[in-house]
Amino acid sequence: MAACIFFIIFALTSYATALATPSLDLVQSSCQNATFPKVCVHTLSIYKGPVSTPRELAQAAIKVSISRAINASKYLSSLQKEADQREKGAVKDCASQIADSVDELRDTLSELKELRRATFRWQMSNALTWVSAALTNEDTCLDGFKEVEGRVRTDVKQKVTYVAKVTSNALYLINRLDHP
Ligand SMILES: *[C@@H]1O[C@H](CO)[C@@H](O)[C@H](O)[C@H]1NC(C)=O
Ligand SMILES: *[C@@H]1O[C@H](CO)[C@@H](O)[C@H](O)[C@H]1NC(C)=O
Repeated sequence: MAACIFFIIFALTSYATALATPSLDLVQSSCQNATFPKVCVHTLSIYKGPVSTPRELAQAAIKVSISRAINASKYLSSLQKEADQREKGAVKDCASQIADSVDELRDTLSELKELRRATFRWQMSNALTWVSAALTNEDTCLDGFKEVEGRVRTDVKQKVTYVAKVTSNALYLINRLDHP
């Protein structure tokens, strides 16, 4: 009986957590001056998870960026098989840059999860360094497609540009954190 009640409470709590989304007020005010405000509001208002502080919102933004980058990474792997000779080089380089970007975004997230008062400045500087490196990798991928024409270029540009916008917004949201 007790186990059953415990289970029901557990299930309800998990259900409530799964349904939680960031408050629209927090999202809208935080995204107001982001680099890409509409993308910022869109991606974070549909984020699944409890978010009630700017710091949690910055973490949510990095998580969105990670999942978008992983998705782009999968797409690039599938492209490597079908790309023609001309595109192959750019696709391969881009796949490796986006994979690096995923690692750097994960490093950013672990730094943000561990923020301590005593080491705040140093950790923030690390987090900003990682997220900037991720953004640079995404931009480098896009640069690699300047000489490539056709559908592959259009698709990669569209997907990676979106990842870069989300990452750029995350950088902005991290930059705004001024205390642990
Ligand atoms: C956005 O920028 C405007 C104009 O510079 C400023 O008044 C406002 O406080 C800023 N909002 C946020 C949330 O940073
Ligand atoms: C992930 O990639 C697939 C295939 O490219 C696409 O159809 C889907 O919309 C993407 N999902 C997200 C969340 O980006």
